[in-house]
Amino acid sequence: MTELVPPSPDLYDSWLAAEEDFGDEHRDGSGAFGGRESTERSSYDLMVAQRLAEGDPATPMPEDRVHCTYLWMVEDGEFVGYLAIRHSLTPFLLEEGGHIGYSVRPSRRREGHATRALALSLPVAASLGIDRVLVTCDEDNAGSRRTIEKNGGVFEDVRRGKRRYWIAVGSSVG
Ligand SMILES: CC(C)(COP(=O)(O)OP(=O)(O)OC[C@H]1O[C@@H](n2cnc3c(N)ncnc32)[C@H](O)[C@@H]1OP(=O)(O)O)[C@@H](O)C(=O)NCCC(=O)NCCS
Repeated sequence: MTELVPPSPDLYDSWLAAEEDFGDEHRDGSGAFGGRESTERSSYDLMVAQRLAEGDPATPMPEDRVHCTYLWMVEDGEFVGYLAIRHSLTPFLLEEGGHIGYSVRPSRRREGHATRALALSLPVAASLGIDRVLVTCDEDNAGSRRTIEKNGGVFEDVRRGKRRYWIAVGSSVG
């Protein structure tokens, strides 16, 4: 069953296999903005440390970036996908990016990982003080749309080709 765990040096081998699997695809929720990561072991360890630091509110961030908690989807100790929870919304994230992004390695899609991972991430978002989680997807992304709707996403509108959904998670809910 899918679990969410912090990025870890221990996941290198299965992460490496997943990176090969992703190829040139964009990895939503990976935190890799400059294209593919270097797959060298030393770069991996540095990347893991950087991702963990980004979740710490004490870490200084560039002006246009918000703190972000990265959690990796694993099953049976093997990396299967990325998930990221942005702690707050910039104007861009409010319009298009949302709080939570994710991607599942291509060979492990349609096994329910994204649905379970998004469900597992919602209490984490609540623990970060987020009351309503914004999740978005491209209009033609049937898999992500279904993932969001199965997690109770309430459709608001489409902006710049992105379907925008809200999921209430905070302590004021219910
Ligand atoms: C979108 C994505 C995250 C879905 O991950 P996944 O683990 O395959 O999703 P799940 O197995 O939990 O499937 C969720 C639902 O979507 C459906 N689904 C998944 N992929 C689908 C597709 N390509 N077309 C139609 N339906 C799809 C599943 O059947 C399931 O619905 P069901 O329970 O009614 O059968 C995955 O395809 C992916 O990583 N895509 C690239 C990155 C991306 O688009 N990220 C989201 C950015 S918003």
